[in-house]
Amino acid sequence: MSLPFLAKRTFSTSIPNLYKVTVLGACGGIGQPLSLLLKLNNKVTDLRLYDIKNAKGVATDLSHIPTASKVNGYSADENSGLANSLDSTDLIVIPAGIPRKPGMTRDDLFNINAKIVHDLAVASAKHAPNAAVLVISNPINSTVPIVAKVLQKNGTYNPKKLFGVTTLDSIRASTFISEIVKTDPTNEKVNIIGGHSGITIIPVLSQTSYYNRLSDDEKTNLINRIQFGGDEVVKAKNGAGSATLSMAYAGSRFANAVLDGFEGKQNVVEASFVDSPLFKDEGIDFFATNVTLGTDGIEKIHDFGELQPEEISLLENCKETLKKNIKKGYEFVESN
Ligand code: NAI
Repeated sequence: MSLPFLAKRTFSTSIPNLYKVTVLGACGGIGQPLSLLLKLNNKVTDLRLYDIKNAKGVATDLSHIPTASKVNGYSADENSGLANSLDSTDLIVIPAGIPRKPGMTRDDLFNINAKIVHDLAVASAKHAPNAAVLVISNPINSTVPIVAKVLQKNGTYNPKKLFGVTTLDSIRASTFISEIVKTDPTNEKVNIIGGHSGITIIPVLSQTSYYNRLSDDEKTNLINRIQFGGDEVVKAKNGAGSATLSMAYAGSRFANAVLDGFEGKQNVVEASFVDSPLFKDEGIDFFATNVTLGTDGIEKIHDFGELQPEEISLLENCKETLKKNIKKGYEFVESN
């Protein structure tokens, strides 16, 4: 007898990919909402939260959400907490560190965050030598070179798997341009190149279809707003930190793109600050452009394409600052 009202049971023959993801600094303003979004990501089946405070509490809270991943918290005061959070993980996201207060630049965070990121990179090299590492802690222009040098020193550096997360600049650009041209921001994409702080962030407006529609003033104001969008949040929070929720969304989107690439999805493209050949001959080892993500991390680093004269001049200023920021990161590792 057939049962017309019962759906036929089918069994999938494909084996799902299961990814272990570790968040270092999981209990802060970015870490908590980012961990929530990762808990909701069905590609993540084993989520590990590490922090110097409250990791077990946040993990227990998230563990009650009925999604496929298990969640565990690891604290700094427990034996091998950091090592266990990293053991054989596939992807590490690092939002550990202090955020900006009004009047501070990202570079002002260097003295504290450089040490935090350095020590977490040492542990990552030891306990998760094959993992992709996504750096959120600022100043990205210096913390990414720090992680690269540490991994190099430990013999585990894979340039295809180290990323400075600049997605927040991309999402701000989508939002801000759509406010001017009155479109749906979810459909807008602005290519961002350079680095991740003030004048090193270069939104390439000439590669959007709106370039000729925008007045010179609109272009100048839009570029400035994208470059210094973080300051709007720092000012509005008035001492209570910098962007956290929009950053958590951006970090989750980028982590998801890296996992999409691991899974073999085609044409996964996001901007990121990566070890790049584009300006190496000028002493700039890292540069942000679009990258295609694949099963082993970065599959292709895109060239930035044609620029207009005013964008070329932004690029020259960017390179000067970027070179110094990268050198500062390298020097920190040499002196530690
Ligand atoms: P927060 O202070 O709210 O959280 C930082 C967390 O890191 C805290 O829970 C703290 O306990 C933890 N932490 C500190 N030292 C640690 C260590 N050694 N090991 C593990 N955890 C440690 O700061 P928030 O707002 O979450 O910002 C974090 C970082 O992200 C800052 O450096 C900030 O500048 C950066 N950021 C980056 C953005 C980007 O676009 N890439 C955007 C916004 C912020």
